[in-house]
Amino acid sequence: MEVGFLGLGIMGKAMSMNLLKNGFKVTVWNRTLSKCNELVAHGASIGKTPAEVINKCTITIAMLSDPAAALSVVLDKDGVLEQICGGKGYIDMSTVDPETSCKINEAITSKGGRFFEAPVSGSKQPAETGQLVILAAGDKALYEAAIPAFDILGKKSFFLGQVGNGAKMKLVVNMIMGSMMNAFSEGLTLADRSGLNPHDLLDVLDLGAIANPMFKGKGPAMLQNNYSPAFPLKHQQKDKRLALALGDENSVPMPVAAASNEGLEESYLYTPYLKYASTRLLRRLEAWDWETWIFQQCLRP
Ligand SMILES: NC(=O)c1ccc[n+]([C@@H]2O[C@H](COP(=O)([O-])OP(=O)(O)OC[C@H]3O[C@@H](n4cnc5c(N)ncnc54)[C@H](OP(=O)(O)O)[C@@H]3O)[C@@H](O)[C@H]2O)c1
Repeated sequence: MEVGFLGLGIMGKAMSMNLLKNGFKVTVWNRTLSKCNELVAHGASIGKTPAEVINKCTITIAMLSDPAAALSVVLDKDGVLEQICGGKGYIDMSTVDPETSCKINEAITSKGGRFFEAPVSGSKQPAETGQLVILAAGDKALYEAAIPAFDILGKKSFFLGQVGNGAKMKLVVNMIMGSMMNAFSEGLTLADRSGLNPHDLLDVLDLGAIANPMFKGKGPAMLQNNYSPAFPLKHQQKDKRLALALGDENSVPMPVAAASNEGLEESYLYTPYLKYASTRLLRRLEAWDWETWIFQQCLRP
């Protein structure tokens, strides 16, 4: 099977590499084209623009940062819309709001193309090992055609009905996850500052009813000051913001999510100042998920 892949960030690179390693022919494009080189070294072809990838492939997957990026890759010059037509399918796996997904659906289908959204639950490591949970919604026939690729990318895919439902499910999941990360960071800091051994806290949590893979994975890394990014804070804050908007639309009060969003925004606000503080510091921080680190520092009195 031949697929196109647009967006080679943390997730897109791992996912497209997985497809390549499992015998798919893949044509890749990334805004920063040099990021295609590693994939090309593993056998991928390169498209110079999104339109070129669509022209070459029957099915194209996108994995882009946010709603603005997802819309730009479809609608702008040399974008998806220039070449999409009957017989071609477009699958957007980025995390966006339902309105963005619906706009993309309308644009693609108005040119005779097929579309579904398929955001994923799972981070860098599940993307590398094909263990994502795929939340698909939209054109069912295209979804069925894409199942061989999804069998490589994920451990389970859900088909959730009409376009927008995948985006909503993803935002609800990440709204819960982001608040859990806030509570976890506060808990680790509180344990440390009140004289407890935070390693003991991790052991206690792991044996109780709130044990989960995220605490188990992130906890030891945080205690070793290892903040290498898997899910950048800017994306976590974007998801929280989009989830709060969904809450607004549906008149659902979400005080916990709102407070968590404030914490994420505050830490994101401070990152540019730290970033420019000194180039030596910057070099050290470049290798980190420093935004999450700052978030933790902000919690310290
Ligand atoms: N990382 C995770 O754990 C995780 C888990 C589940 C879902 N997600 C979602 O998956 C998506 C991708 O996440 P990621 O972690 O892979 O992000 P990332 O590493 O920041 O990569 C973002 C990608 O989007 C591209 N991009 C950004 N703005 C663009 C624009 N205006 N036009 C064209 N391309 C643009 C970037 O291109 P450049 O290389 O040129 O910057 C890059 O390829 C996001 O929606 C995120 O919320 C992430």
